[in-house]
Amino acid sequence: MPKIFENVSLKKLNTFRVEAKARWFTEINSEQELAELFADQQWQNTERLVIGGGSNILFTKDFEGLVICMNIKGIIDKIVHDDVFVTAGAGEVWNDVVTHCVDREFAGMENLSLIPGSVGASPIQNIGAYGVELKDVFHSCKAFDIETGGHLTFSNQDCQFGYRESIFKKELKGKVIITSVTYKLSTKPSLNTSYGAIATELQSRGIGQPTIRDISKVVSDIRVSKLPDPSTIGNAGSFFKNPIVSKLKCEQLLSDFPNTIHYCLPNSTVKLAAGWLIEQCGWKGKKIGETGTWKNQALVLVNHGNAKGSDIYNLSAAIISDVNSKFGVLLEREVNTI
Ligand code: EPU
Repeated sequence: MPKIFENVSLKKLNTFRVEAKARWFTEINSEQELAELFADQQWQNTERLVIGGGSNILFTKDFEGLVICMNIKGIIDKIVHDDVFVTAGAGEVWNDVVTHCVDREFAGMENLSLIPGSVGASPIQNIGAYGVELKDVFHSCKAFDIETGGHLTFSNQDCQFGYRESIFKKELKGKVIITSVTYKLSTKPSLNTSYGAIATELQSRGIGQPTIRDISKVVSDIRVSKLPDPSTIGNAGSFFKNPIVSKLKCEQLLSDFPNTIHYCLPNSTVKLAAGWLIEQCGWKGKKIGETGTWKNQALVLVNHGNAKGSDIYNLSAAIISDVNSKFGVLLEREVNTI
């Protein structure tokens, strides 16, 4: 049975580095420990919060239930012809798995280098960056069914991946706990350099025939230059999703604001750049007390030191209101708020 602790500070367990306490707290190191935990009816009936790297969560108050920190480790490779199946425990750090794959020249994850967070969280919000989404390399995952105590396997299709969306955020929310994920990579790289900044950066470094390692390095460097390092400045990456609007709405916006950054999607919808919308409202790099938006990327809210979760939440509400007044576009938070 895993050890249960009471009144535990979560400050070091969330990348915003805000103070909040968990009424109960436990760390899970194996599937066996999960089964033992939920064999006890008390924990079946207690409100729960599963965390990995704590990189996509904002605590605005203490959590009165049980916080479960997933720490199941292990990375196993299986090479089948040109494919590589890499299975990682939910508690592995995402970027450690990326590095593992890049070092072995397993292709597919290099564009997702340096994203903060854990393996277990990676399918939940279908992490994505620089033209690649997790769904492009996701093969399957194993999860613990809290109600039955059974183990389930989800294929790529089962997960119903969308833009920062999956079944785990919808009907399976709170019902299953991901214990491991299998990624399908390739020993024959087909590199994705189409995302503007990558191609420009490779060119300026004089790299004509990039390797997986080159892409990983370039993506990491771009991220470092644009995004604050959570180990020094509290943040949770993009705080909002990029809003998706109808083609008609986009045309109206373009007539009022011809520079509106937009990307056409297949089904007559258009994705707008939330960072641009926020910047146009004058919020980029603005500091309000201990919180604010990042100087190089307005989509990232930061804790300059001693911000409370509620300060960051209030800032996000002010931004939503301003963007809505100016553009008639409602931003949706990407970060989970407690
Ligand atoms: N932009 C501005 N002002 C800003 C920020 C951005 O004008 O303050 C413009 C940029 O110049 C660019 C466009 O908006 O033309 C898009 O910006 P960027 O390429 O930086 O990407 P993003 O759409 O803001 C998304 C992901 C990031 C991911 C990057 C790179 C979401 C919510 N965010 O950001 O993911 O790293 O693309 O692929 O989709 C995360 O989810 O936490 C995250 C960091």
